[in-house]
Order: sequence, then C-alpha cells, then structure tokens
Amino acid sequence: MTDRVVIVTGASSGIGEATARAFGARGDRVVLVARREERLRQLAASLPQSLPIPADLTHADEAVRVVEAAVARYGQVDVLVNNAGMGRYNWVDALQPDDVHAEVALNLIAPILLTRAVAPVMLRRGRGVIINVASIAGLIGVPTTSVYNATKFGLRGLTEALRRELQPQGIAVCGIYPATVEGTEFRRDRRANTGYLMPRWLRLSTAQVAQAIAALADRPRPFVVLPRIFRVAMILNTVAPGLIDRLAARFVRRVRTQA
Ligand SMILES: NC(=O)c1ccc[n+]([C@@H]2O[C@H](COP(=O)([O-])OP(=O)(O)OC[C@H]3O[C@@H](n4cnc5c(N)ncnc54)[C@H](OP(=O)(O)O)[C@@H]3O)[C@@H](O)[C@H]2O)c1
Repeated sequence: MTDRVVIVTGASSGIGEATARAFGARGDRVVLVARREERLRQLAASLPQSLPIPADLTHADEAVRVVEAAVARYGQVDVLVNNAGMGRYNWVDALQPDDVHAEVALNLIAPILLTRAVAPVMLRRGRGVIINVASIAGLIGVPTTSVYNATKFGLRGLTEALRRELQPQGIAVCGIYPATVEGTEFRRDRRANTGYLMPRWLRLSTAQVAQAIAALADRPRPFVVLPRIFRVAMILNTVAPGLIDRLAARFVRRVRTQA
C-alpha cells in the first residue's frame, strides 16, 4: 500500500476514472478533477479520502486553483496525472476554429499550466512524478486527426523537455502512449466523423491503461507505448514514412470517395 497524494484530471469517465480507482485501491489520496461534479462526487463516495474538484481546465486560472485546493487539503502533491483530453476528429477543411482552440487548450495548454502550478510544490520536497497521458497519436500523424496529433505531439515534446529539466531536481516526467482504448466516452466522436475503427484485438481496456499509469507512478519510465506492438508502427513511421504515407493515401481516397 502507498499513501501518496495524486491529482488525476479527467476523472469523471474513461481512463481517468479507472486511474483514480487504481490509485485509490493502493491507498493513495486522489484529487479528482473534471467538469461533471455529480460524476466526481459519485466516484469520491467509493474512494476514501478522495477530493473532488469540479473544474473546466480550458480556463487558464483553473490549474492554480486545483493545485492550491489539493495542497490546502493534503499539504503536498506526489503525483500529477495529466489525463483530461478530447479528440474532435475531422478533415481539415471541416474544422471549426472554436473547436480547435478548445482542443489545444485542454490537451496541451492545461497540462502545461498544471505542471507549472504543481512544480513548486514538488520542487520544495525534491520529489514527485508527472505522468502525461498522450496517445499513439503523439507518435504517428494520420488523416482526420491533425489537431489531435498536433496536441499529442506537443505533449510528447513537453514531456521530453520537462523530463530533462526536472529529473535532476528529483521530479520524474513520464509519457504514456496508448492506442485505442475501449470503455471511454472519447471513442464516440471518431466513428461519427470518419468511419474508422481499430480492429478489436488491438484495443485496450481502461483498466489496462490505468494499471500502466499506476505502475509508472511506482517506477517512473520516460516512455510507455501500449500495446507494445505499436512500437513497430512507431519505428516504421520513422524509418519508412513513405510507406505510412501510401497506406494513409489509400484510406483518404476510399473514405472521401464514399463521403
Ligand atoms: N480512448 C482512447 O482510445 C484513447 C487512446 C489514447 C489516448 N487517450 C487519451 O486518454 C485521455 C482520456 O480519454 P478517455 O478515452 O478516457 O476519454 P473520456 O472518457 O472522454 O474522458 C475525458 C475526460 O476529460 C474530461 N474533460 C473533458 N473536457 C474537460 C475540460 N474542459 N475540463 C476538465 N476536464 C475535461 C472529461 O470530464 P468532463 O466531461 O466531466 O469534464 C473526462 O473525464 C485523453 O487525454 C485522450 O486523449 C484516449
């Protein structure tokens, strides 16, 4: 059993909820962050010593408020899991400016501001772990997910730079890169917009991702790709990008011709 203070963003559903439960099961005190207050309260009722903080993380001031509330309650923060995220997949010519801003604000700017807010708390004690939930979309760009790719590639850059900046000061910064995860609310958009779906045998459960996140908090590593086979796709994308280009082109011609 552990007794850490863990902030989990996006705790009202999907990976975040499963992650909060995984930390709670280890005895950690979990700070639950998302917009839907009722969902957070229901989850908090099953996690002793947890603290629900309703917050819209696309608002710049909320990061500081969340960290201050966690410190006011528990006096410290040991782990920050930047998980809240969205993906409005669509063709670039169909993107709406407000949607683009909201997606960048949630997926990229919120983790930056939360890290900025929590860093002084962790630096004072000379320890802490920050885990950024990116995506395979932070490793490989594909059609119809351009903005999502941009945010997750950005999150990967943030993770790498901060790992090198903060690790010498006692703070580990980790990135986790899952492929498709079932049992979340995220998946609904994707199908509506593009008709694209990952084969069942490659899909992950929220519990699998949550366990991997909790394991990272115990033993930080720079980089976790799930399922592991996607490391092959990552390497292929680096050494033979033209091959991925050709596969993507086939997908674009097929789907756009049908549209
Ligand atoms: N599902 C996948 O296939 C997959 C694969 C790889 C990576 N990921 C990543 O995993 C993370 C979690 O996604 P998920 O699949 O678990 O999706 P999800 O079920 O839709 O969860 C998203 C979470 O983010 C919260 N959220 C959304 N907008 C917010 C806002 N403005 N302020 C605060 N919280 C907000 C949502 O809560 P409220 O609506 O209550 O605010 C919810 O708790 C995301 O970063 C996603 O990119 C997902």
